[in-house]
Amino acid sequence: MPDQSNAPYATRRSRRVRIPHLREMKERGEKWAMLTAYDMLTASIFEAAGIPVLLVGDSAANNVYGYDSTLSVTIDELLPLVRAVSKSCERALVIADLPFGSYQGTPEQCFNTAVRFMKEGGAHAVKLEGGIEMLPQVQKLVSSGIPVMAHIGFTPQAEHHLGGYRVQGKGQDALRLLEAAKAFEQAGAFALLIEMVPGALATEISQAVSIPTVGIGAGNGCDAQVLVWQDMAGLRSTPLPRFVKQYANMRQVLIDAAQAFAEDVAGGNFPGPAHTF
Ligand code: KIV
Repeated sequence: MPDQSNAPYATRRSRRVRIPHLREMKERGEKWAMLTAYDMLTASIFEAAGIPVLLVGDSAANNVYGYDSTLSVTIDELLPLVRAVSKSCERALVIADLPFGSYQGTPEQCFNTAVRFMKEGGAHAVKLEGGIEMLPQVQKLVSSGIPVMAHIGFTPQAEHHLGGYRVQGKGQDALRLLEAAKAFEQAGAFALLIEMVPGALATEISQAVSIPTVGIGAGNGCDAQVLVWQDMAGLRSTPLPRFVKQYANMRQVLIDAAQAFAEDVAGGNFPGPAHTF
């Protein structure tokens, strides 16, 4: 058996990554990566790469549907994407993002939406955005056996309330996020996603709670990191936020491939004998 001790967690596992494994990784100080996925092929590629947790984010609004913000995407639009991802993964834990307006109303509304993502979408857990005001929602899900990741800091669904894409938790505001983090931990959330907060605060929160923290634009002190896959792989032509690191230039790879195909067709070189019955 080859030594796999340095391989990413999910490639070392032959069975499903489950919530206790994430907690154990935190206890061992083992950092892990999460990526968004919205379809079968990318989900299976990221699983093959050993990514232990995939998020079907409401960022599908921007990255799949071409909307300006995540506010527009609906349950009915996200559900098929969640189903595609969860059906394509044997090992990764699949988290479904609850879309704007589908859970903020009442804990019962939140429960009903989460049940749809678990039952019809096959998700293993859900994520919701917000601060301490979302505590009843988190409690309701946890008491119903639905694992929930709480998303704090900059919460894109509240972009208009927050005055745009702004770093949260600066100065006096830090305490608000620290208290929300502790309250969500107490309520039984299995993890916290921390978006766009000062690195020092995200580190403090990560040390103050026993559940894993997943950072995006929150520095290096979190237990895990998440990126939107199209940002990570370089599919976009528009500028990336400062917190994104681009690991490939897939946009150029696809442009080159599409141009080569078009040139082959124009020159009468495709299909050739090998592609012809
Ligand atoms: O929907 C999403 O992609 C997110 C990011 C913060 C990862 O929630």
